[in-house]
Amino acid sequence: MEYTNAWLNYKTVDHIRFPFDTICMESGGTVMERAADELVLAAEKLAKTALCRIADIAEMGRRSSCPGKNTIFLGIPKKRGERPADAGAFRIRMEESGLHIQGGDESGVLYGVFELIRLMQTASPNLAKLWSGKLAIEKSPSNPLRMLNHWDNLDGSIERGYAGSSFFFADDRIIVSERTRAYARLAASVGINAVVINNVNVKNAATRLITEQYFPELDALARIFGAYGIRLYLSLNFAAPMELGGLDTCDPLDRKVQAFWKKKMHEVYAAVPELGGFLVKADSEGRPGPFTYGRNHADGANMLAEAVAPYGGRIIWRCFVYNCSQDWRDRKTDRARAGYDNFMPLDGKFADNVILQIKNGPMDFQVREQVAPLFSGLRATNQMLEVQAAQEYTGQQRHLCYLIPMWKEVLGFKTYAGGADGATADTVADIVSGRLYGQKNCGMAAVANTGADENWTGHDLAAANFYGFGRLAFDTELSAEEIAREWIACTYGNNAEIMRILLPMLTESWQIYESYTSPLGIGWMVNPSHHYGPNVDGYEYDRWGTYHRSDCLGMGVDRTKKGTGYTAQYNEPNASMYENMETCPEELLLFFHHVPYRYRLKSGKTLIQHIYDSHFEGAMKAQAMLERFEELKELLEPEVFERIRARLKHQSDHSKEWRDRVNTYYYRISGIPDEKGRTIY
Ligand code: GCU
Repeated sequence: MEYTNAWLNYKTVDHIRFPFDTICMESGGTVMERAADELVLAAEKLAKTALCRIADIAEMGRRSSCPGKNTIFLGIPKKRGERPADAGAFRIRMEESGLHIQGGDESGVLYGVFELIRLMQTASPNLAKLWSGKLAIEKSPSNPLRMLNHWDNLDGSIERGYAGSSFFFADDRIIVSERTRAYARLAASVGINAVVINNVNVKNAATRLITEQYFPELDALARIFGAYGIRLYLSLNFAAPMELGGLDTCDPLDRKVQAFWKKKMHEVYAAVPELGGFLVKADSEGRPGPFTYGRNHADGANMLAEAVAPYGGRIIWRCFVYNCSQDWRDRKTDRARAGYDNFMPLDGKFADNVILQIKNGPMDFQVREQVAPLFSGLRATNQMLEVQAAQEYTGQQRHLCYLIPMWKEVLGFKTYAGGADGATADTVADIVSGRLYGQKNCGMAAVANTGADENWTGHDLAAANFYGFGRLAFDTELSAEEIAREWIACTYGNNAEIMRILLPMLTESWQIYESYTSPLGIGWMVNPSHHYGPNVDGYEYDRWGTYHRSDCLGMGVDRTKKGTGYTAQYNEPNASMYENMETCPEELLLFFHHVPYRYRLKSGKTLIQHIYDSHFEGAMKAQAMLERFEELKELLEPEVFERIRARLKHQSDHSKEWRDRVNTYYYRISGIPDEKGRTIY
């Protein structure tokens, strides 16, 4: 098999009642067709029921083989008042005539179908309630945009990809294959509605994606995605006017540049009318941008926004803008401040079809970061949260690290944007959903963790992050545990023993990974460039602004008023909470403060003892996960078991390397021995 069906493999579920024999589409459309296909397949595989499929109600009367009772109707109610209000919203309920799955649009019907299938896969007790009419399900997506960002290069490699090569590109060509459809199906099943297929670092052939050379394949991809309610997006090279248009400038206020983009967008949209828009990384890590011309990011984004506006296009503009040529001797420049410093002054200056995409933390997808302060500040700008499912700094899909608990914390962070009394609902979830400021162009994006590996994500269990991102973006109220339960049941069948072993492995994995790598918010300590494995000073004397400032007395970066002043970027009472070492949440202590090794934490332990304990305990837990997993030998398919076991074995060994490197470093630099006398080198 070239690739699995992941959580859509539809293993038979015992003892579910599925009292239907017919499916009737009340209206047409490609997405509706996909929805019907899916329900037919799931009924056959999960409930051993062959559904008779009829095109519309009129046909129903004509066909005697399909009696019309025990029917599932898929449709979009014609009357506005009866229709679920939002795009992607759905309702499932039993009526006299049969079971009705109704959407606010075709995508809503598709999501309703996947919801019903999920209830079947998990053998949910809600099924019986649905059948009896005691329960009606109504859901509306929390976020308008639920997007995956692929960092795929046209040569087939993937930046920070840990699951094989790209299935979108090879040898500077676009691949259009059955796998594209399989991917779209997986993504849609969890509510994804937008996909960027190419890397944010747009270079070489990727710059030419917006030329006719690639139009036919792009259009083909857009159609495959479109059939699953997904919009295709591309990453864009800000320097295209020079690289493609032969101009001598990319100045966004230059008329020739503006004319270039307008003409270009006209061409692109004529060829690929369903294109959703573009993602732009500008003035960041060597990518070109408006700063070169003394312009700001609103100038740059708005120029592109104007060019795509006639076609309903969106410009998603990343806020990952910082000075990456810092001098480590300079203790005032603070990379964490950069996003806020660059974008806050522009609040309210962006066009309506521009969305600022903000990484969850102020640095770069570390195992733990506090929430980026921009979310607390921007009030009149569309915002999107960017998280990273690709596990660049969280074990590269060789270590298990289920990220949904982290993303839940980010979404639940109270920004106090609505005032210091805390009365307004102003969490990150309230902001990026558009609820707080009444915005429509907003949502969540994840850097994708997929590739051409058979299991899609390298580590089989990393698929829970792909699945979970979609589920969470669709419904931010779901808990990390509920999502993990669903994923396990859908992927491995509804088996109590598998659930018993895998569920705690997933839900505890983030904290385990954190504890043997870089606890208390210190971050980094990885090998330069590939970012894998321990190297405490790997980034200490470099230009990337990611320091830990350890000396013989203490460690951590002073970001208080006396230090870099970063704490002041938060609203009160958060700013004061972070400013004060006693009230700063301990899991972030070393991000905000330079702390003496003998400082006592709330547990009563000294900082240095906590560092030692955390690494020893974390490595032990990684070992314990492997042992726990061995119990599943008879219950999982042999290849699946072996694949996961091999990764857990590597993780267990590698966690010891982390433990010993970090503990040894701090023992040598502090001279303070471990109270428990364990081996440190
Ligand atoms: C990280 C990552 C890069 C990536 C960048 C980004 O720095 O290491 O590979 O390009 O993030 O988000 O743009």
